[in-house]
Amino acid sequence: MPIDENGKGYSEGTGYKEKIFEEFLVWQFPRLKRVKEQYDYQSHIYLDMTCGSGIVPKSNGKYGSPLIALDCIRRFGMNFNEVRFIDKNPGNIANLTKILGPNKYGICADNNDAIVSILEKYNHNHRLQYLKGIIYFDYNGIPDFDLISEIAELCPTLDILIYLPATAIKRRNGAFPEYEKTLVEYVSKINKENWIVKLNDCPDNMVKKWQWSFLFGSNYQGIKDYKSKGWYLINTEQGKIIIDKLNNKKGSCND
Ligand SMILES: C[S@@+](CC[C@H](N)C(=O)[O-])C[C@H]1O[C@@H](n2cnc3c(N)ncnc32)[C@H](O)[C@@H]1O
Repeated sequence: MPIDENGKGYSEGTGYKEKIFEEFLVWQFPRLKRVKEQYDYQSHIYLDMTCGSGIVPKSNGKYGSPLIALDCIRRFGMNFNEVRFIDKNPGNIANLTKILGPNKYGICADNNDAIVSILEKYNHNHRLQYLKGIIYFDYNGIPDFDLISEIAELCPTLDILIYLPATAIKRRNGAFPEYEKTLVEYVSKINKENWIVKLNDCPDNMVKKWQWSFLFGSNYQGIKDYKSKGWYLINTEQGKIIIDKLNNKKGSCND
């Protein structure tokens, strides 16, 4: 995948990714809003841990994940206690600031460092234990599963969205035996009981080859999948077929 000057990859599949991402927020925000209205004393946060520059490169100004999220936050009147967009690349945060003007959202830091100061604020009176909302990870490649697992341990009721290239995990396994976990093994170490999978269904061959996909993890027992849009709980018949393809060496999304 080509990488632009600020370290952000782009491809035809990115447009599909952003569309699916928006669809996800439009699906999940109303549920979160209802929970917040019911338990107003609990804190809700929205964190984009790898936010990019706000604009999809070479897309004629199409919104990237932070701007899509802000738009949905306004549209649905979300009452988050905190919204943060984190990127380690200063050019990306500078660009985001140029678009948004002075704001409290952007943080230029490695997300391993940024998360410590964010969660610190909720680390009293069991607030971390009940911290709700969404934390989004969209690296250019394999996610930092150690970081994701640590956060999930600290924040069992915070929902997690991950965008990842499953093929890259299989290839790394083949090349470096010390990274011997499969996707399912990584995911099963994250403290989320329910996982929903959605393939990036862009017809582009590179997207299929790398098996770019979303995984959404939640401990909310009432969580439902969204079959008509291709989001399947991984323990359902269709979800199992997809997660097996993403997990197994021979699984291909061109099948
Ligand atoms: C694929 S881009 C994110 C795109 C964004 N989600 C969107 O849809 O517009 C990945 C970004 O993650 C950032 N990144 C990678 N590792 C990071 C880390 N450890 N901490 C913070 N940012 C990181 C990169 O600088 C890059 O901008």
